[in-house]
Amino acid sequence: MTTVVEDENQGTSGPAAIGGGRVIEHDVLDVTHGPILYLDDITVSFDGFKALNNLTLTVEAGELRCIIGPNGAGKTTMMDVITGKTRPDSGTAFFGQTIDLLRMTEPQIAHAGIGRKFQKPTVFEQHTVFENLELAMKTDKRVRRSLFAKLDSAHGDLIAATLEQIKLAQAPDRPAGLLSHGQKQWLEIGMLLMQEPRLLLLDEPVAGMTDAETERTAELFNSLAGKHTLVVVEHDMDFVGAIARTVTVLHEGSVLAEGAMDVVQNDERVIEVYLGR
Ligand SMILES: Nc1ncnc2c1ncn2[C@@H]1O[C@H](COP(=O)(O)OP(=O)(O)OP(=O)(O)O)[C@@H](O)[C@H]1O
Ligand SMILES: [Mg+2]
Repeated sequence: MTTVVEDENQGTSGPAAIGGGRVIEHDVLDVTHGPILYLDDITVSFDGFKALNNLTLTVEAGELRCIIGPNGAGKTTMMDVITGKTRPDSGTAFFGQTIDLLRMTEPQIAHAGIGRKFQKPTVFEQHTVFENLELAMKTDKRVRRSLFAKLDSAHGDLIAATLEQIKLAQAPDRPAGLLSHGQKQWLEIGMLLMQEPRLLLLDEPVAGMTDAETERTAELFNSLAGKHTLVVVEHDMDFVGAIARTVTVLHEGSVLAEGAMDVVQNDERVIEVYLGR
């Protein structure tokens, strides 16, 4: 047993060293003197068409930022750039002060603490809710979990807290395949939370949800704000209204307007873009 621990931690020992990988990550993510996400002058072209056109956007740590904008505005492309799926033609993208996202691969970016939720839920249908959360835990922790009783309970606590947050505390043993669409979405958000991301990107999270599910999702996001940083793309304006602090409006690959929901909603240019030209 001891040998395994020493090997894994390269000579260091004790519980403090167990989370070493994670501690280092958090040290590297430096948000002490600025935003958690900094995009500057990002341009992405597809065959000459600019999906993002000199996009500049900053998000502070702990924010719940809503991004709205008509179809084709570049919202998903922006998330593709942040997560390393798409390389911009030009521009700058930083996670905290020091992490240059444009120099990293998709897995490196995920590991650094950026989680992404795509529109379609991708849970393991044949596994239970609890198992899905357990499987989503960082691999290094899953391995070490069996070695340290202390971590067992810490992770048990994390799963229990997450089940509570995603409103599935009553159904830990239900196969994920039997959940409603909304519950599957919550479970997937829970799986992202198990990775303890610092920044969560959510693309149209309430699409296809019932009104009741949408309301509960708003509650969930409001409870996550502050602890996590959330960037939420959504077309459902009732939902945006229920969670909005600062709203950014994208149009033709650039920021058209930014501010409080009511300010943005009454902006002439925003109204024009939404109501047609
Ligand atoms: N891989 C690609 N190849 C070519 N064009 C693309 C590609 N990805 C996106 N686009 C184009 O870039 C523009 C922005 O697309 P994007 O998906 O980012 O918009 P969006 O704001 O997410 O829209 P929606 O609200 O419909 O999801 C669109 O015109 C789209 O057709
Ligand atoms: Mg999109």
